[in-house]
Amino acid sequence: MLADKDRIFTNIYGQDDWRLKGAMRRGAWSNTKDILAHGHDWVTEQVKASGLRGRGGAGFPTGLKWSFMPKEVGERPHYLVVNADESEPGTCKDRDIMRHEPHQLIEGCLIASFAMRAHACYIYVRGEFIRERERLQAAIDEAYEAGLIGKNNKNGWDFDCYVHHGAGAYICGEETALLESLEGKKGLPRLKPPFPANTGLYGCPTTVNNVESIAVVPEILRRGAPWFAALGKPNNTGTKLFCISGHVNRPCNVEEEMGIPFRELIERHAGGVRGGWDNLLAVIPGGSSVPCIPAETCQNLPMDFDSLREAKSGLGTAAVIVMDRSTDIVKAISRIAYFYKHESCGQCTPCREGTGWMWRVLERMAEGNAEKREIDMLLDVTYQVEGHTICALGDAAAWPVQGLIRHFRGEIERRIDQYTANAGAPMPAAAE
Ligand SMILES: Cc1cc2nc3c(=O)[nH]c(=O)nc-3n(C[C@H](O)[C@H](O)[C@H](O)COP(=O)(O)O)c2cc1C
Ligand code: SF4
Repeated sequence: MLADKDRIFTNIYGQDDWRLKGAMRRGAWSNTKDILAHGHDWVTEQVKASGLRGRGGAGFPTGLKWSFMPKEVGERPHYLVVNADESEPGTCKDRDIMRHEPHQLIEGCLIASFAMRAHACYIYVRGEFIRERERLQAAIDEAYEAGLIGKNNKNGWDFDCYVHHGAGAYICGEETALLESLEGKKGLPRLKPPFPANTGLYGCPTTVNNVESIAVVPEILRRGAPWFAALGKPNNTGTKLFCISGHVNRPCNVEEEMGIPFRELIERHAGGVRGGWDNLLAVIPGGSSVPCIPAETCQNLPMDFDSLREAKSGLGTAAVIVMDRSTDIVKAISRIAYFYKHESCGQCTPCREGTGWMWRVLERMAEGNAEKREIDMLLDVTYQVEGHTICALGDAAAWPVQGLIRHFRGEIERRIDQYTANAGAPMPAAAE
């Protein structure tokens, strides 16, 4: 279990003061100027050495991403954009950072912007997060008043921080859709390349990072990259905020060491599975877009990027959704499929058509009103969507369905048998 001394978010439950005074008491802003004094590239190198991987879902190495930004500022200014859209179902960690630790985020924005030679940062906040936006803005105002950010600030790097409020679309969490939305346009993902480090916000070099990725940076630099790198496992370092929901006795957000086994995470922090471990059906370990893992194989799994990838799932946003045996797993995945159908922006045919198609078939399969050969047809459609779209929403829609078929094919077949036995007539064969 993570020792209290290694915790980065010491006020994640909001029991202490979120304001500047409280944050400073907990260590925020204590030696920011000294950190910046080491220079732009030193900061990036330290973040690289810490092994920090992006906390927004894909787990891309943060320091490496920063190093893609041009080393010199030309005619185009550089920007940092912080992704606070947090719309992946099950995920609720960035929200608590903004509510209870806003100064860690703002200090991280200054340091990361400095590393990438940016004088301005935009924080794009999910539309539904009204109170979070207000609190973040209040904390930014405090930082301006205290001379910690702004022109000629105490830390020696001119820096402006702006909060932008989204309108509540999941797709605006995709980094290029987010940039479009920030520019005042419809949130439609852009084709890549060009990548944002080359052509991002207003056509300028830009890096987009998740709230948690940025908020952990000040503490990594204060304590040193080796400290962070020593936590967790190689290539999966540090601490991580897990959002535990579903059929556990005490749903919670908790900061733990990367790689903690699933069972230990749930036992220690969430009071165990409702009805005991024999009652566990499956878990979705990283937010609704990653494939589920059945009870038989998930219990000892280390909760980190590489281990969950090997288990054919993913750490994603570390939103751990626990499902007990009362869950209608086919219906649950169908509901997730509906979400992706609803949130598809419609630019790519495989996603626009495929998400609706997958959802409609799953709705029938939840009742058993399908043919067994449609299971492989459905799987085939997921492969036609996956990897064939502009953005990763297509993959996000395909993976949960693949997980369902991989682990619960027998349950789908059982329903089809039952439906056929009860209703008599199977579905008419579709025209070949
Ligand atoms: C459909 C879709 C939705 C996404 N939503 C979010 C989100 O709400 N928050 C987030 O940080 N990243 C989200 N991402 C990932 C971002 O595109 C981007 O990879 C991330 O913000 C990079 O930050 P990181 O490197 O710090 O993880 C989403 C990606 C896709 C494809
Ligand atoms: S994959 Fe879906 S959400 Fe992404 S750009 Fe294509 S249609 Fe839009």
